[in-house]
Amino acid sequence: MNLRALTLATCVILGSAAWAAPPLEVEDPMRGPTPVAQETDPPLISPVENKDIRRMRTYSMQPPTIPHKIDGYQVDKDFNRCLACHARVNTEETQAPPLSVTHYMDRDSNVLAEVSPRRYFCVQCHVPQTEAKPLVSNTYQDIDVILKRLSAPAPAKK
Ligand code: HEC
Ligand code: HEC
Repeated sequence: MNLRALTLATCVILGSAAWAAPPLEVEDPMRGPTPVAQETDPPLISPVENKDIRRMRTYSMQPPTIPHKIDGYQVDKDFNRCLACHARVNTEETQAPPLSVTHYMDRDSNVLAEVSPRRYFCVQCHVPQTEAKPLVSNTYQDIDVILKRLSAPAPAKK
């Protein structure tokens, strides 16, 4: 490398070090307008929805969300509080919906007598909901809405 090229390279490196990124225009709905370097006031924790009304599933294989509180429910190798109500044998007394057959299947689709270990820790898939407003909007459309639109007759040509 000759001297001129070396000087040029040094200038470029020094120049880029001094260059500061312009402030981003995007605003993160979770932290609001607070600059990244500052701490935000965390929002209040929203209450868990506890209406006991089963919610619609967004698609048929969605693990239904939990429509009741689960605060303090023990789920470990010794005891599973969820099964105390949702296990097949307890549902007559508790009126909780029983686990579906997929919860008894191993990964080769063999149906077992007991809940499959891979379905034992319920909150891996099922979650309660809070009364918080959504932080970001989305344009998700239910498949039924899409099917209806696709099967609608095409508008008549003039
Ligand atoms: C005291 C009994 C009881 C316990 C304990 C319990 N549930 Fe429930 N669960 C119910 C009942 C009853 C319903 C029906 C809706 C309602 O009344 O809330 C239900 C509904 C549900 C549903 C909705 C099913 C659907 O088809 O929409 C899910 C998911 C669920 N529970 C998961 C859990 C999980 C996970 C746990 C443990 C963390 C748990 N439940 C603990 C009684 C219970
Ligand atoms: C690996 C994910 C997963 C785990 C873990 C899991 N589930 Fe589910 N669950 C699902 C899915 C997916 C569905 C909906 C489709 C189906 O029935 O398989 C479902 C459906 C349900 C339903 C509704 C059944 C019906 O016939 O409408 C209940 C109640 C339920 N689960 C309770 C539980 C409980 C209680 C546990 C813990 C013992 C648990 N689940 C563990 C994925 C899971």
